[in-house]
Amino acid sequence: MAKDVQNILFVCLGNICRSPLAEGVFAAVAAERGLADRYSVDSAGTGGWHAGDPPDPRSIAVALRHGVDISGQRARQVRAADFEAYDLILGMDRANVADLRRLAGGNADKVQLFMQAATDASCDVPDPYYGQADGFEKVYRMIREASETLVDRLEARISPSSGQTSSTT
Ligand code: 4NP
Repeated sequence: MAKDVQNILFVCLGNICRSPLAEGVFAAVAAERGLADRYSVDSAGTGGWHAGDPPDPRSIAVALRHGVDISGQRARQVRAADFEAYDLILGMDRANVADLRRLAGGNADKVQLFMQAATDASCDVPDPYYGQADGFEKVYRMIREASETLVDRLEARISPSSGQTSSTT
């Protein structure tokens, strides 16, 4: 039987800039389409330096400008149980994906590059942490557009290799 709820984990390095945005924006896109109950999402960092911290104020601000409140999120580090609990683990850049695959054990096939999974473009969501403020707006836009297509794809279940088919029963 196909699962009703897809568990998706968004991962970056610190879990304070990019992946909190991806978690919040993806959830907002799903909710806008009336699909909130189809997805359970979280985010994490491959590093643990910011564990317990709220998202970077610049990520909170850019999300809020677009109507998404991510201020209640708290950073955490990826843990071994995530590779069992989540159906899809999406790294924001290729370094995240490489790190995740090293940690994934037998579940490495769950790990994908976010932009690749969403759009087939094998590109990174750039780390805006040390850059200019407009980097956060660019990252927001990338994540928003990719989240739209990711929901389209997941709803269409277009990947035969996923081993799942949509269930209407
Ligand atoms: P993120 O950005 O991976 O998008 O959350 C970063 C945040 C903090 C650090 C690196 C990247 N840091 O080195 O503290």
